Amino acid sequence: MDRRHFISRSAGMGLVSWLYSQPLWAATDHAAHHSGMETAQGSSGLKTVPAMDLLPESKLASGLPHLALKPLPNASAKTGTFQATLTAAAHEIELVAGIKTTVWLYNGQIPGPLIEAYEGDEVEVRFVNQLAQASTIHWHGLPVPPEQDGNPQDAVPADGERVYRFKLPTDCAGTYWYHPHPHGDTPEQVYRGLAGLFIVRSKSDPLAGFAEQHLVISDLKLDAQGQIPDNTADDWMNGREGQFVLVNGQRNPVVTIAGRQRLRLWNACSARYLRLAIPGQKLTLVGTDGGLLEAPVPLNELLLVPGQRVELLVGDGKTVQTSLKALIYDRQKMGGQNMNDIVAETERTLATLNLIAGPTPAIPTRLRQIADPGKATALKKVEFSEKMSMAGGVHSMNFLVNGKSYDMNRHDLTSRVGEVEIWEVFNNSHMDHPFHLHGTQFVVLDSRLDGKRRNAPFRALHDTINLRPYETVRIKTIQHHKGLRMFHCHILEHEGQGMMAQLLVK
Ligand code: C2O
Ligand code: CU
Ligand code: CU
Repeated sequence: MDRRHFISRSAGMGLVSWLYSQPLWAATDHAAHHSGMETAQGSSGLKTVPAMDLLPESKLASGLPHLALKPLPNASAKTGTFQATLTAAAHEIELVAGIKTTVWLYNGQIPGPLIEAYEGDEVEVRFVNQLAQASTIHWHGLPVPPEQDGNPQDAVPADGERVYRFKLPTDCAGTYWYHPHPHGDTPEQVYRGLAGLFIVRSKSDPLAGFAEQHLVISDLKLDAQGQIPDNTADDWMNGREGQFVLVNGQRNPVVTIAGRQRLRLWNACSARYLRLAIPGQKLTLVGTDGGLLEAPVPLNELLLVPGQRVELLVGDGKTVQTSLKALIYDRQKMGGQNMNDIVAETERTLATLNLIAGPTPAIPTRLRQIADPGKATALKKVEFSEKMSMAGGVHSMNFLVNGKSYDMNRHDLTSRVGEVEIWEVFNNSHMDHPFHLHGTQFVVLDSRLDGKRRNAPFRALHDTINLRPYETVRIKTIQHHKGLRMFHCHILEHEGQGMMAQLLVK
């Protein structure tokens, strides 16, 4: 049965009035969940606005040449050391001709700067927080010690600063990113523009001979005045999706690919699922979140969910005009007041691709070996669920992990350093949710849906993986540092409302 029909038939008026009496449920829900913390931090709570008119998509220029990401210059002259400063601050920029849009950015850049470092490097990033609220920098996917990983407990106050220091271990070459992770305010800080990129390189990269380009896919919502509005009730429910999907901050840029090239793609959207395809071309998947696969995998399309990254080889030297598409993907969003409130999914062109003649290095048949983590000696069970509640006389939706809403003062699970674990993650809900685990990478063993078991088709390293409604995914993983780690849904509005829990590694 269609989810929208499910909602309209089974829930009736109660749910409808709940969804559309927005400021109420928002304020009450948040107060109920986080009262202690919020008062302590003086946070304004979960801001919610009614649905509004949006700026027409055509107002944003499109078809311009793809801009390369701006690198974060290394201030250190010492080899093996990367040193730089990231400053988070509000800026006014002209995204739309004639309109000044207020955005929150790292070093004034959209997307944030690209950090490039090598395995084994010592990284030292000074973070200057010029926002009016506390923030952190979380190094999504990187194996950094917990106290350097921008946990909500380690918030840098407004006008404060700190230095993040970590050494990149060997064997962590891959495609990562960084974004804020303060308690409660992560969704807003990210949708206002705070996110940057991190590539760890290996000195022995089997794909070093390929020219490389970077496509950071992000989502942007602008109201009719060209400003970034707060979340609506629907954004909080389904995860925020704007009218714009940008690549390196541009609408439908033209990416010229000479010969065969290596593309790194990031899904930095708060909630948008990207079912990617390039009509007329095979996608040669060579890497995932945690770096290269063991061998290239030819695909017709691939699903890149919020938080995930991939590396592809694209082009064969023949001249073709095509595009990078996001095909329709139904992630079972919940319905609103009437069926028309959920914007119908449409196929989108994310970028125009100009494939032209150029060098076509051969695709290696082997890329690397991903070691089996070994025999698991511990089992963790995680369940994502959604629950309708009537807290304080107001209908609200709770997004839960193992039946509980996030509490930064509680640890939910315990692990031991170096122990091989199987995590069985179950999505006991009607909607897709991307599961993300901090501090490490994992391999997927298998998944179970509708009574059918499916083994992972190939070995790959992930830190974020999608779960279909009622799907169970089994992963194998190891934590390498003592301390506190988060795991959560990477639809940031769900994370912000409590679909997050904590792992204490001893
Ligand atoms: Cu991308 Cu807990 O984060
Ligand atoms: Cu993360
Ligand atoms: Cu979710």
